[in-house]
Amino acid sequence: MELLRNVVVLLHIVGFAITFGGWAAEALAQRFRTTRAMDYGLLLSLLTGLALAAPWPAGIELNYPKIGIKLVILIVLGGLLGMGSARQKRTGEPIPRAMFWTIGVLSFAAAAIAVVW
Ligand code: HEM
Repeated sequence: MELLRNVVVLLHIVGFAITFGGWAAEALAQRFRTTRAMDYGLLLSLLTGLALAAPWPAGIELNYPKIGIKLVILIVLGGLLGMGSARQKRTGEPIPRAMFWTIGVLSFAAAAIAVVW
């Protein structure tokens, strides 16, 4: 069970890596767009995060305020990514710069909260 939990944590981190990595690639290429990779990474973080939010194996202690804040950040990120891709489709242009940077900062902040808190 403990090994299974560790595997799910690994997948949870892979989800973050895909979202943040996708964002970083766009930033470095100066395209400033949202991509499918960011959406899929976020979905993976959500599904694995929900699985981890249940207290298994028995006896494990979870930091629910921390989990709750990450869930709120993830929902905001989902909203931004959804709005961003809709806007890109409509206009064909990159998303507004402030929106793009907010996505990167929030994604990084969620990981920082997970690790530092
Ligand atoms: C963008 C959003 C998220 C990021 C970047 C993120 C990142 C991380 C990282 C790096 C870890 C491993 C470090 C640690 O164990 O403390 C972790 C653990 C964890 N995350 Fe997330 N997370 C996100 C969203 C969520 C959500 C939405 C939930 C639940 C609803 C969640 C639940 C958990 C739980 C329960 C653990 C602890 C695993 C354990 O110690 O057994 N996370 N998260």
